[in-house]
Amino acid sequence: MNSSVRVGLIGAGRAGRIHGRAIAADVVGAELVAVCDASHEVAEQSARELGADLWATDYQRLLEAPEVDAVVVVTPTRLHRDIVVEAAARGKHVLCEKPMAITVAECEEMNAAAAAAGVRLQIGFMRRFDASFRRAKEAIESGAIGDVVVVKSHTRGPSVPHEWMYDLRASNGPLAEVSSHDIDTLRWLTGSEAVTLQAFAGNFRSEAARSEYPDFYDAVLMNVQLRSGALGNIEGQQGVRYGYDAHVDVVGTHGSVQVGSLRGNSTVVSTADAGMRADIVPSWRDLFQQAYVAQDQSFIDAIRAERDPEVTGEDGLRAVAMVAAGNESIRTGRRVALDAQED
Ligand SMILES: NC(=O)c1ccc[n+]([C@@H]2O[C@H](COP(=O)([O-])OP(=O)(O)OC[C@H]3O[C@@H](n4cnc5c(N)ncnc54)[C@H](O)[C@@H]3O)[C@@H](O)[C@H]2O)c1
Repeated sequence: MNSSVRVGLIGAGRAGRIHGRAIAADVVGAELVAVCDASHEVAEQSARELGADLWATDYQRLLEAPEVDAVVVVTPTRLHRDIVVEAAARGKHVLCEKPMAITVAECEEMNAAAAAAGVRLQIGFMRRFDASFRRAKEAIESGAIGDVVVVKSHTRGPSVPHEWMYDLRASNGPLAEVSSHDIDTLRWLTGSEAVTLQAFAGNFRSEAARSEYPDFYDAVLMNVQLRSGALGNIEGQQGVRYGYDAHVDVVGTHGSVQVGSLRGNSTVVSTADAGMRADIVPSWRDLFQQAYVAQDQSFIDAIRAERDPEVTGEDGLRAVAMVAAGNESIRTGRRVALDAQED
């Protein structure tokens, strides 16, 4: 494909607008031509800001448009399956935000639809495109730290959970919305799959959820045994308030790799009155802005080169399977075995 890829954005909320800006301004070989959002105002205003000619409140309008080659799906997770299956059937390439869907069965349908239509399907694990995460992957693959023994990955977000997340059956909760990234990092950096896992969780800050959703949790720890023999530990927390704190520690037989810093920049101000002060990373939007651009560029490059995306529907499915196993473990208090899968 030599001409530029014409992209439609479906869902122009927090993450959608980041994709929209990346495609409209930074990605080479792509054009943002359409925006859809369920909210009339959001759709119209975003299309105007992003320079897209077409806007709609019904995503079918974008899927019917011959001038749209690919869509980026950034709606609430529960809608991903329907939109992606229909988009694939209409011959549109798809970049779908994480979590891929709510259930493994939905992921299977999405993968089957993309395969049947011969379109590219990429899942939005943008940390794989972050320069620091890529450097860590290269160091591990070079053998510099020997065999991977332990991967600890945590994501702590400052903001309180959206109310729609309180119902774990509808949202899969923080393991899905927050820890999907850490789950993907664990699989990616080890190149191995989970064999068994156990998770523990509690609600420490989300007072509003307590009476109606007693099983909602805003802090979770998950221990994972991988087929390679490596051990994983994932921690997810919401509403920590102090900043956006994403960190990975990898320990090998000969060394270690660390990714992530709470420091927003390298400036430290020291005074007699206030002591030492430094800026904290405020949000994932700031930390991963360039990773979004690189991710969206990679999606467009995969379409133009007619190659598989770097992050596939299979990656999305395996993360959803681990989320489901983690929630089962929290519910039952038991260790959960994952289906036998080859690495
Ligand atoms: N990769 C990341 O780090 C990251 C970060 C944030 C969110 N996400 C994912 O992105 C998705 C969206 O999350 P968000 O935080 O941007 O949510 P959001 O609520 O800010 O935005 C969602 C948007 O989708 C719109 N919408 C709802 N139903 C729609 C429909 N039927 N058709 C078109 N638009 C519709 C809403 O009006 C809203 O503007 C979720 O799957 C979330 O997990 C990923």
